[in-house]
Amino acid sequence: MEFVDTHTHLNDEKFQGEEAAAVERARIAGVTRLINFGDTMASSARAVELAAEYEGVYAGVGIHPEEAYELGTADDERLAAWTKEPRVVAIGEIGLDYYWEKDQERRALQRKIFVRQLDLARQLHLPVCIHDREAHGDTLAILQREGRGLRGVLHCYSGSLETAREMLKLGFYIGVDGPLTFKNAKALPELVREVPLERLLLETDAPYLAPVPMRGKRNEPAYVRYVAEKVAELRGAELEEIAAKTTANACELYGLIQP
Ligand code: NI
Repeated sequence: MEFVDTHTHLNDEKFQGEEAAAVERARIAGVTRLINFGDTMASSARAVELAAEYEGVYAGVGIHPEEAYELGTADDERLAAWTKEPRVVAIGEIGLDYYWEKDQERRALQRKIFVRQLDLARQLHLPVCIHDREAHGDTLAILQREGRGLRGVLHCYSGSLETAREMLKLGFYIGVDGPLTFKNAKALPELVREVPLERLLLETDAPYLAPVPMRGKRNEPAYVRYVAEKVAELRGAELEEIAAKTTANACELYGLIQP
């Protein structure tokens, strides 16, 4: 059985000096491939470095909404140049975060650089990895307006099933992580039963959001297996089927070689 952790952060300082060990533990758990996403220029650079260093480790580069600043041409060029490096497969994570950002001007800046990075991804023919926290309406509106010709995933999905259906219509994937396994998972279990399996991606968002039974500990790519087990349980499917289909989905979206 093989899994892909489609969204993780071994580029986070919490893994400093332990990246090789985390990659090895992932492999032992059957997580043969993982994608580290950047949220700043510095963490994007680190994600690119790790992708060059480790077989099975990929990267996405981008500026996260919580880190928003006025992007210029030099920033676009930097991001575009990284995508020519080995195993850099996406622009992300990008999007909107209205949970942490209450200031209207800062939110407007988030929207501006979200659209700018969507344009960049379109020019580069790359998929996008989208962060949307308590900004479901604006995220959907922007994707409906600006998402033409783009493919991607709503990572760590936290919206309603209704919104998910609209995202699916646009061709986007839905990423699920540790919160699916939490007791207070709210809409997520129903969502995971309803979303077509060919549109579901597994992720950890490590070092945060460790799934049960590791909840509260530092998360890591090896734990994506617990998310897969929960998806299998909710859908009444075999773990093998969930592993095979979600791995195929990850390969399809990010252009990885099918197993
Ligand atoms: Ni993330």
